Amino acid sequence: MNQIKTFLRLLLFWVVFAIPNLSAQTIAQTYECNSINKRFVHLPVKTGAPKTWVSVNIDGVWQTEFEIELAPENPDFYATLEVGQWKGKKLSLNAENVTPGSKWISLTKMSDEMSDERLVYKEEYRPQFHFSPRRGWTNDPNGLVYYKGTYHLFFQHNPFGASWGNMTWGHAVSKDLFHWTEKPDAVLADKNGVVFSGSAVVDTKNSSGLQKHPKRDKNGNIINPPLVAFYTSTAANRGKGESAQSMVYSLDEGKTWIKYPQNPVIPHIIGGNRDPKVFWYEDRQNPSNPNSGHWVMALYLDGQDYALFSSKDLIHWIKVCDIKNLGCSECPDMFELPVDGNKQNTHWVFWGGDGKYLIGTFNGKDFIKESGPFTTKYGGNDYAAQSYSNIPATDGRRIQFSWMQGGEYTNMPFNQQFTVPRELSLRSTPEGIRLFLNPVKEIERLRIAKAIPFAATLQGVDKFIKVPNLKGELLDIELQFDLKSLQTSEGSNVFTTEIFEQKITYDLDTRMIELVGVKAPLAPVKNRIKLRLVIDRTSMELFANDGIIQIAKCFLNKDKVPANMTISGKKDMANVTVKVYQLSSVWRK
Ligand code: FRU
Repeated sequence: MNQIKTFLRLLLFWVVFAIPNLSAQTIAQTYECNSINKRFVHLPVKTGAPKTWVSVNIDGVWQTEFEIELAPENPDFYATLEVGQWKGKKLSLNAENVTPGSKWISLTKMSDEMSDERLVYKEEYRPQFHFSPRRGWTNDPNGLVYYKGTYHLFFQHNPFGASWGNMTWGHAVSKDLFHWTEKPDAVLADKNGVVFSGSAVVDTKNSSGLQKHPKRDKNGNIINPPLVAFYTSTAANRGKGESAQSMVYSLDEGKTWIKYPQNPVIPHIIGGNRDPKVFWYEDRQNPSNPNSGHWVMALYLDGQDYALFSSKDLIHWIKVCDIKNLGCSECPDMFELPVDGNKQNTHWVFWGGDGKYLIGTFNGKDFIKESGPFTTKYGGNDYAAQSYSNIPATDGRRIQFSWMQGGEYTNMPFNQQFTVPRELSLRSTPEGIRLFLNPVKEIERLRIAKAIPFAATLQGVDKFIKVPNLKGELLDIELQFDLKSLQTSEGSNVFTTEIFEQKITYDLDTRMIELVGVKAPLAPVKNRIKLRLVIDRTSMELFANDGIIQIAKCFLNKDKVPANMTISGKKDMANVTVKVYQLSSVWRK
């Protein structure tokens, strides 16, 4: 009897534990290439397939690792790893756990092309003039720097999957902020961990000494200064290590990046300290002193706390100031701007990840708050913005990109996009000085033709004025509502613009503007409400009253409804003028 009981127990154990484990059993496997003779290796990815860690080994030495949903068959897309720098050497890609029978090894390919050249940028939900990665996931813009006529855009990138992970710095370049050419990833994970957000500068005076062979022009200026970038390294993804600030530099105009051997340059301080934003502080009190001025790093510490650090050489940093209670966390930025364009009246802006900002003064050491926090974000899809460094003084603009956090790109081999590049300015308002955001003027180069203004008077809440001659899906629209009176009367004092079945409303009673459910306060200026709508295939951005309010919102036009733009509102409430510019795709030849 006892024997039968033992047998039944064993059987039960086998059914409950052993059988499921058998089917879940995985094995380690290696893809090998004895002598690398191509620039890239492409790995098959299937979103939703079991994840495995893969380490990259060259002649048997570990270089980097990533976690990937390796496709056992029928990949959704190929993830690309650059291996050209190891030509002639032996490559081994060691996958920790793959399902027996997976065809990932035979599906893995090497080539000199970046990825799916025939398919890329032709996808159904590919933004047509907003930046999005060729393949994989992006979140924050990183390392925005202008260098010798080229805008560099680095970005938090998961090259190996369409969701967050494996943080790496992707890299793209552009001459006009809209037509981007994506380059191989610039900074990959190493023994210090993955590569979180950060910034880049041009070390014009070679203060770091990283350029060992500086060449000078006849005025003594260095013509081959190093590009230096700062990022947070964190091994937290593997459950080990803490975040610290690391440095990487380029001596070939941003083509290749060398990790600083003594990384990190700032060890872990507290909590999740991260996202270094570095800029040069010009000491205008001592302009003739060649040693005046220094580097400043704004760093997120923990909770809602930030700090400023100072350095003469980009390598040694000391903490000089704390900035607390901004009301948000992560991704700081800091810059000086003239008020109303008056260069004699400048103020400093301290910016945090969620679009909150302080206005103040800065003497190179202490940031002293004058007003704020204010916000540029009332909801919508907008996070972790960063502004460019090294924009020439002759241009003088403060140009910013932001991540359109949370958009949907169903079944696409890429995920997430950025906002349009925006120009920031400080302007006086009846409430005090505020930051204004507007699309950079380069967007006008995408306009296909001159707009023919259309004018009408509101006809009624249920009487829809149809805007004529509206074609296409990529649009830059200016609307001006000249209100007959600021006094409101019985009934709804809301006027509505509808396009692609999305509603933009203005409520004169509450003085609130609303874009697809995101509301922000907006007062008429000179009895006027001015709206600018920038519409791409998967997003809408609204800039109201010259940029005092800006709302970025993702949308997915799944049913491919046409624009059908209508305007409605209480009869005679306002005269409206509409200018519609159709924009061209940056991908069309
Ligand atoms: C903001 C952020 C940063 C961090 C990065 C990681 O979105 O959380 O603080 O560096 O993303 O991807």
